[in-house]
Amino acid sequence: MDIAAAARYESLLSRRASLTFPSPRLSRAAFSEAQSPRYLFAGGFPDPGSFPYQELIEATREVMEHEGAQALVYGHPLGYMGLRELVCEKTRRLEGFEISVDNVLITNGSSHALALACDLLLDPGDVILTEAPTFSGSLNTFRRYGPEIIGIPLDTEGIRTDLVEDQLKMAARRGQKVKFIYTIVNFQNPTGVTMSLRRRHELLALAERYDTIVLEDDAYGELRYSGEPVLSLFGLDRAGRVLRTGTLSKILAAGVRLGWILAPKELLPRIAQFKTDGGTNPYVSRVATYYLRRHMYDHIEVLRSIYRQKRDVMLERLYAGLGSDAEISHPDGGFFIWIRLPEGTDPERLLALATERRIAYVPGPAFFPNGQDGTDYIRLAFSWASLDEIRQGVDLLCEAIREAR
Ligand SMILES: Cc1ncc(COP(=O)(O)O)c(C=O)c1O
Repeated sequence: MDIAAAARYESLLSRRASLTFPSPRLSRAAFSEAQSPRYLFAGGFPDPGSFPYQELIEATREVMEHEGAQALVYGHPLGYMGLRELVCEKTRRLEGFEISVDNVLITNGSSHALALACDLLLDPGDVILTEAPTFSGSLNTFRRYGPEIIGIPLDTEGIRTDLVEDQLKMAARRGQKVKFIYTIVNFQNPTGVTMSLRRRHELLALAERYDTIVLEDDAYGELRYSGEPVLSLFGLDRAGRVLRTGTLSKILAAGVRLGWILAPKELLPRIAQFKTDGGTNPYVSRVATYYLRRHMYDHIEVLRSIYRQKRDVMLERLYAGLGSDAEISHPDGGFFIWIRLPEGTDPERLLALATERRIAYVPGPAFFPNGQDGTDYIRLAFSWASLDEIRQGVDLLCEAIREAR
């Protein structure tokens, strides 16, 4: 970028456009353009071999035959009714609770849903709580709204509700209200932890007691490979305290850019105020809906078996390469493995050695609100790479970790 030329616009920019925040180094950035990573364990990208090409071609044809012009004009601000109904049906069948279309607003992926929650709730300087670590993309979304982000540690049961309460109390003492508590409930990104039922009840009770909202992100909930599902916060909530986001990115394709936000009926129109985009993807919403009506549950089963195998192969190679020197998470679902590096590992040297071996991963600090903690952690995604790439890449990574000690 030509910095001098860009500076000409500074006086015109909004305060939000000018907000600065820590941007931790990503290992992807270490690669030159000429030398791209061969072992891509960085982003949460779905398996490219899982995309249902033929079925999507058929769904596209059906949409054009059955809906014609309807598919090609501006859409309803709340989204395509067929997809809103499908979200209700999926929620009943997979998550075990009832919602109506009046709770559902279709968005451009769940990142957009999270940004809409911020539009609804945040002014600069407001306080929010997130898990620490948490998904770097969500942190970047939140940072754009200028809140104070306070990170709350997790343990094996999920977010530490005792520490959440401490922060809620402290904010109340300062005369402030925490605007929301952001949590990734299942197979948390990056730690892989699923919040226990007990913690879910505790969090809801706190939200009610301290008059705040729980922002429940469930980007991976459908992709469970072991263990038993736990009821959703939105499904458990009796006090209208939860906004819940979901996505088709992980169960169909990220490129369809479709997700949703579930909200109490009274709140949904207030969120819709911020949807001035002519309706989210009316055409692709129909294609996805036609496809999913026929194939969703079978496709989810296929995805579960693909990712279960990838998870198991990655874990097996990590255990073989690092033994008990490292702490390695064992997620019941989702895309990620979170690794605490063996004591004495130099994170900068590891990054250099891994880049030489053309391995991309995400260093820990990207997932912390202050952009600094977690230097002794890395996150690996097993979703994109093939089984052979996982085997080779993880062996090379373990070699690099040993060398970086
Ligand atoms: C926890 C979590 N939430 C939200 C998203 C956003 O996904 P999308 O905008 O594609 O729905 C991701 C993507 O990786 C994620 O990991």
